Amino acid sequence: MNHDIAHIGLSEQGHLRVEWAARRMPVLGVIRKRFSEEQPLEGYRIGACMHVTSETANLMLTLVAGGAEVTLCASNPLSTQDDVAAALVDAGISVYARRGEDADTFYEHINAVLDTDPHLIFDDGADMTTVLHRERVDQEILAGMEETTTGVIRLKAMADEGVLRFPVVAVNDSDTKHLFDNRHGTGQSSLDGILRAANILFAGRKVVVAGFGDCGWGIATRAKGLGADVIVTEVDPIRALAAAMEGHRVMTGLEAAAEGDVFITATGNIRVFRAEHFALMKDNAIVANAGHFDVELDLRALDEMSESRRVLRDNLEEFTLPNGNRVLVVAEGRLVNLGAAEGHPADVMDLSFSDQAIAAEWIVKNADTLEPRVYRLPDELDREVARLKLEAMSGSLEMLTDEQAAYLGSWQHGT
Ligand code: ADE
Repeated sequence: MNHDIAHIGLSEQGHLRVEWAARRMPVLGVIRKRFSEEQPLEGYRIGACMHVTSETANLMLTLVAGGAEVTLCASNPLSTQDDVAAALVDAGISVYARRGEDADTFYEHINAVLDTDPHLIFDDGADMTTVLHRERVDQEILAGMEETTTGVIRLKAMADEGVLRFPVVAVNDSDTKHLFDNRHGTGQSSLDGILRAANILFAGRKVVVAGFGDCGWGIATRAKGLGADVIVTEVDPIRALAAAMEGHRVMTGLEAAAEGDVFITATGNIRVFRAEHFALMKDNAIVANAGHFDVELDLRALDEMSESRRVLRDNLEEFTLPNGNRVLVVAEGRLVNLGAAEGHPADVMDLSFSDQAIAAEWIVKNADTLEPRVYRLPDELDREVARLKLEAMSGSLEMLTDEQAAYLGSWQHGT
């Protein structure tokens, strides 16, 4: 078996980590058991480009249990858990991922996975899909799965331009994914990353959250819960209004730049905080990015305008400006929850990765009828994942009485 990982000697520690995650992924466990009985993916080769974490390991093991042959590479150079990569190799899965790999290695690893000629791909951020559309245009792919908002935006742009070559399930768009992973996962794990890197107290701090989509909602809500005074910047009037009605102050980036103590981007856009913002920031302002790509903070501008820079702590780099103010960047501006912490906890990845596994099964069953466009997982499958998770959390679902069902199905009732 081929692989490129940091050190196979880390596998024992990795196995423990994977086991601990599995205990908090009960729905994926149910699917894994069913997959091992029914073998819905037998004969399929799968190429995955995802964050190499203990949660992803459990997804890969589920796909293997379902009969697939799986090869995995990283979807971000800084998110790989080397011990988990080693555990997967030890379990017989080819992995191409090393934490901190450079850009060339990152793409070599994507190409190594594509060299296995997968039928299905699992992408997180659409980098693998983009390589297939830019460089490997003759390679046939049956279908794909996409994990994240940024990837889905790229795929929809491809579909709109008419260049998307195969059907893709936008797993991100399932309610059981974006309403939970993006909100509760990103909310908690982004703050976790900042806490591990800087060990600050959030209570009483002014925390600026750029973007109030599901991820921004999660970050702002959790920061407020820790006692922060939250400021939101938004370009969309509906989202800005939603932030205001959640009790956050809403202002422009330049207004917020002078006020904030901590800045967290979650917009999916480029250069959200730039030279003009850094110049206004207070001494010891902390900046972090929770978006998929490391483009939201203009770190090149920060470097050019700084007199010096030094690494102050793990995942915390200090830039000193000519006015003496220091700006502290977390995890090189890469997605902070995976760069400086361990990503979303397994409890919530249980939902996202159950959706992924079910999407693979659905796409294999329906491949003949699907066109090269972006699909959502059928609503009944989304609801089934929610039902299973609720059950695992000991919640019980209320049932409609016959009379209530008839009432909802009829238009003839009045006052
Ligand atoms: N994305 C966010 N958190 C993650 C995790 N723990 N594993 C894989 N992908 C993630």
